[in-house]
Amino acid sequence: MISARWLGHSTFIITTKTGKNILIDPFLQGNPTTPESWKSPEDVDFILLTHGHDDHAADTIPLAKKTGAKVISIVELSGLLKHDGLPEDQAVEMNKGGTVDLGDFKATMTNANHSSSWKGQYAGDPAGFIIHVDGLRLYHAGDTNIMPDFELYGKLYKPDIAILPIGDHYTMGHQDAAHAVNMLSPKFAIPMHYGTMPVLTGSPETFRDLVAGYTGGKTKVIIPEAGSDFRNLLGD
Ligand code: NI
Ligand code: MN
Repeated sequence: MISARWLGHSTFIITTKTGKNILIDPFLQGNPTTPESWKSPEDVDFILLTHGHDDHAADTIPLAKKTGAKVISIVELSGLLKHDGLPEDQAVEMNKGGTVDLGDFKATMTNANHSSSWKGQYAGDPAGFIIHVDGLRLYHAGDTNIMPDFELYGKLYKPDIAILPIGDHYTMGHQDAAHAVNMLSPKFAIPMHYGTMPVLTGSPETFRDLVAGYTGGKTKVIIPEAGSDFRNLLGD
């Protein structure tokens, strides 16, 4: 991984050592926390979707059409996207528990405890991803409630970095998210899905303090600034 950026809400873009750009949950045009320069990236190779809600998938079809990116999502959401114009040969459908090898990285789809729809239609289960890239394992949890699966994913995948929603209201808040970090035992934890709108009241600073208490400092919390590269904060 040569760069990693948070683009506001649950949107992240990472660049692999092979120079490929992986965009997770693109919510850019309508996202008040996305920096102007990231509203419409030109170079995207892969788009990973945790679920179909607008604040995770809104920019998918226009971006995929513009960049030719492959779009990786659960079967039902993939079907709806294709129906709405995502080119057939760019859609990569999968389901939970499976790992797909995308050449430059691998993605394992995990469980998430939430709901999912696309333009008002049921869009299959919500999910998360374990991303295996350049010797690192990143866990992007998607939108989720706290769930016992975190314990299992910690043991099974030993994530280096856990990216978790903390905003409350639509997902777990900072308190439960800090418990989730303790269950996952990653080296680094990154909060997401907060501050985008007034109801997302979870605090990244409170999350950081709670994680420090629960993990005894074993997990370091990184609070990225929207748009800035935080790769160097992760060490080697
Ligand atoms: Ni959602
Ligand atoms: Mn959401």
